[in-house]
Amino acid sequence: MLARAPIRALWRRAMTDPARSHGRKSIRATMTPRELITPIPEIAGAWTARVITLLPQAFPGILGESLTGRALQDGLWVLDPIDLRLFGEGKHRNVDDTPAGGGAGMVLRADVMGRAIDAAMTGTAPGWPLIYLSPRGRRFDQAMAQDLAQRPGVTLICGRFEGLDERVLDHYGIQEVSLGDFVMTGGEIAAQALIDACVRLLPGVLGNTKSTRDESHSDGLLEHPHYTRPAEWMGRTIPDVLTSGDHAKVAAWRREMSEKATRERRPDLWEKHHDGGPDKA
Ligand SMILES: C[S@@+](CC[C@H](N)C(=O)[O-])C[C@H]1O[C@@H](n2cnc3c(N)ncnc32)[C@H](O)[C@@H]1O
Repeated sequence: MLARAPIRALWRRAMTDPARSHGRKSIRATMTPRELITPIPEIAGAWTARVITLLPQAFPGILGESLTGRALQDGLWVLDPIDLRLFGEGKHRNVDDTPAGGGAGMVLRADVMGRAIDAAMTGTAPGWPLIYLSPRGRRFDQAMAQDLAQRPGVTLICGRFEGLDERVLDHYGIQEVSLGDFVMTGGEIAAQALIDACVRLLPGVLGNTKSTRDESHSDGLLEHPHYTRPAEWMGRTIPDVLTSGDHAKVAAWRREMSEKATRERRPDLWEKHHDGGPDKA
């Protein structure tokens, strides 16, 4: 815990008091990258998300609410936002520059991002995933969330502007992951979505682990529809089978509805589920 104090103190200060960023104990323009790169041992086995971002104050954001927020408070997982600005160049801690070859926008510098990555990966276990949230990446899905939730944690890089210098991606062999086929202004929302999807799979976060087994995408299908009180609303009733008390019939109906929804809404998933899955007949 002591070893991580200096860098964590810097991150905390940047998170809680962004306006006072040049106090003696916070960001010093003379601070060398070596001083910023302090070993960060893992905390007692809790799943850890390290997030390199220009907006550390955007965290925990929505992750601080409800189930993920309670789990964070209870120490079921750990969040380390890492302020990219701390690793910037020169007096003004510059993090970006104009694109080689010209064109619009700015690009995050390789040397700056490299220093932040070195700090963020210090003390991590071998095979700890390093992911850049990017619209050019592989589409994020439930299988990826399940895989990441099994690991000790993940380091996420949030881009801004036009994104990262490609050499950083090549040098560190960074995996690019996309939230979908659209472009946002930065990677922070994507990072929070990815973290949320992982954290809810961690043991103890949801009251009922069955709910993560039965939901959409957990077995390649979309989920069946849900109903609750009142029994009649706007002339619409609840399907009789759900109030029959016959658990076997309810389970069969739900399975049928789940398959129907997948077939009709997501033929791509249906095809994979029906023909291609490794455990399908
Ligand atoms: C304006 S975008 C850069 C887009 C980039 N120039 C391109 O055309 O691929 C800025 C940052 O937002 C994040 N971002 C935007 N859309 C995203 C998406 N669909 N999934 C994940 N991250 C995204 C990435 O971190 C990206 O570096």
